[in-house]
Amino acid sequence: MNHFWEHWQLERSSRAALIRYARLSSGLVLFGFVASHLSNHALGLISLAAMEGGRVWFLAVWRSAAGTTLLYGALSVHIALALYSLHQRRHFRIPLWEALQLLLGLAVPGLLAAHIVGTRLAHTWYDTTHSYTSIVLAFWVLRPDIGVRQAILLTFAWIHGCIGLHFWLRLRPRYSRVAPVLFGLALLLPVLALLGFAQAGREVARLAEQPGWIQQTLRAARVPGPAAREVLESTTFSLTTTFAILVGLVLVVRMIRHIDIRGHRSVRVSYPAGKEVSVPTGSTVLEASRLGAIPHASECGGRGRCTTCRVRVVQGAASLPQSGPEERRVLRRLGAPPNVRLACQLRPTHPVSVVPLLPATARSSDVFVRPETSVEQEREIAVLFADLRGFTRIAEHKLPYDVVFLLNRYFDVVGGAIERAGGIANQFTGDGVMALFGVQSGRDEGCRQALVAAGDMALGLAEMSRTLAEDLKAPLQMGIGIHAGPTVVGHMGRGVALYLTAVGDAVHVASRLQDLTKEYGCQMVISEPVAQHAGVDVSGFPRYELTVRNRQEPIVIRTIDDARNLVQVLAERSNA
Ligand code: FES
Repeated sequence: MNHFWEHWQLERSSRAALIRYARLSSGLVLFGFVASHLSNHALGLISLAAMEGGRVWFLAVWRSAAGTTLLYGALSVHIALALYSLHQRRHFRIPLWEALQLLLGLAVPGLLAAHIVGTRLAHTWYDTTHSYTSIVLAFWVLRPDIGVRQAILLTFAWIHGCIGLHFWLRLRPRYSRVAPVLFGLALLLPVLALLGFAQAGREVARLAEQPGWIQQTLRAARVPGPAAREVLESTTFSLTTTFAILVGLVLVVRMIRHIDIRGHRSVRVSYPAGKEVSVPTGSTVLEASRLGAIPHASECGGRGRCTTCRVRVVQGAASLPQSGPEERRVLRRLGAPPNVRLACQLRPTHPVSVVPLLPATARSSDVFVRPETSVEQEREIAVLFADLRGFTRIAEHKLPYDVVFLLNRYFDVVGGAIERAGGIANQFTGDGVMALFGVQSGRDEGCRQALVAAGDMALGLAEMSRTLAEDLKAPLQMGIGIHAGPTVVGHMGRGVALYLTAVGDAVHVASRLQDLTKEYGCQMVISEPVAQHAGVDVSGFPRYELTVRNRQEPIVIRTIDDARNLVQVLAERSNA
C-alpha cells in the first residue's frame, strides 16, 4: 500500500512539472498575443493608417495556420489547466496576488467569447473582414459599451499575464536588475494602447460625420446582417454560459470531494509552540499552514521553485512519502539535509511534526545566497583558506577604483573555482577567502573538491596575471591552506548578514597552513589527511611534521610549490 502511495506521489510530482510547463508555455503564447495586440493599438497614436499597417502584420502572424493553431491551442490548454487547478485547489486562503490572478483569469474567457465570435468566427462564417477603421467605428462611435468591455478584457488579460510572468521570472538571478524596466513597460504598453485607440477613435468620429461614410465602412467590412448577428450573439451566449457552467461544476465537484475526504481521512500536522492543524490526506504541509493561519513563507506560491517554504521534519520523517524528482532537484541544489522538505510539495500520510525554517516574510533571495544547513551541526569537512600575496604593496600604487576592480576579478576567479568544485565560498575578507567543502557530500568528497578547487584557483590566477600583465609589476601570487576535520557548521550573524560558516579546530589549522605558505615559500600547504581522504598520492611533494600554534598534537603537512601541479595528480587519480 505504501509502495503504491509513494509511486502515486512520484507520478503526481512529474505530472505537476508537466502541468507547470504546459501552463507556462501556453501562457507565454497568450501573453505574446496580447502584447502584440496592445502594440498594434498603440500605433493609433501615429495614425489610423499606421494601425491598419500594423494589423496586416498582426493578422499575418495570428491568422496564419500555424498562428491560429498556436493561439487557439494555447487558449484551450490554458483554460483547461485553469479549471483543473481550480478543481485541485483545497482551499482559497491564498495570497492577494494569487487571488487577483485567479479572478482576472476566470473573468477573461467570458469577456473574450464576444470578441472571438465577433471577429474570428464572423470572419470564418460570414467572411466579415474587419479593418481597424470598422473596429474603431464599432467600439468608439456605434457601441462604446462594447469598446469599454474590450478595454476591460485587454487590461484583465494583461494584468493576469504580467502577474504570471513576474512570479515566473522573479526567482531568476538577474531579474531584480531588469524588473524596474519590465515594470515600466508593463505599465506603459496598455496606457499607450488605450491612448492609441482613443486617438484613432477621434479620427474615426470625424470621418463618421461625412454623410454615408458609416454605411460604406460597414459594407466594406461585410458586417453581418441582423439574422447572422443573431446567430453570433447566441453563439457568444452559449460559449459564455458553457464556461460559467464549467466553472460552477468544477467548484461543486471540488466541494463534494472536499467534504468526502474530510469525512474519511485526515492527517495532523504539528508546528512549534504546540500548534496543530488537521487537513484532508493529500494536502500539502503548506496548505495545512494556510488552513491553520500559520504564517509560512511561500514566495513562488507553492510551485516548488523558491524553497522559502522549506521545513525541518522533527517527527514522523520515516512515514513520509519520498520527495519527487523536482523537489529533490531543488533541495539538492540547496544542499539541504535529508530531514528538510519543501512544505508545498510534502503531502504527509501520517502525523508529522515540522518546523518552518525561514521567517514568513522570507524572499527567495534569502535562500540562494546561502546554502542550507538548517541548524548548527557537527560535520567533518575540508576547509580552505586562500590569500593574495603582497596585495597591500600592489594596492599602494593604484587608484581605489583599480583596487576594487582587481579584487573583484580575483574573487571571481577563486569564488568561481570553489563553486565549480562543489564548495561554498563563505567568507571574503580583504584579500582572503575561506571556503567549506563537503558540507553535504561528506569529508572525503570535500577533500577531493578542495584540491580540485585549489588547482583551478591557481590556473585562474595565472590566467588573470597574464591578462593584466601590463597593469601588474609581477604575476599575482597566492597562498592556500587546506585541512580537514570535525567542525560545527551553521549559520551565524544576523538578518541580511547571516551566513554559513564553520568553527572548530579544522578551521584554525587550515588558516595556519595558509600562513605557513609564506614560511615554506610555496603556493600551497595541505595536511596529509586531506590527501589521504581524497585518495590522492602526494608522496612526490615535500613532507614535514610540525605543531601549529595553539594546538598540541603534531600534524603532517605537504608543501606544494605550484597548486597547478595538483591538476595533473588529480587527473592521474581519476584515470587510475
Ligand atoms: S512555496 Fe516556493 S518552493 Fe514551496
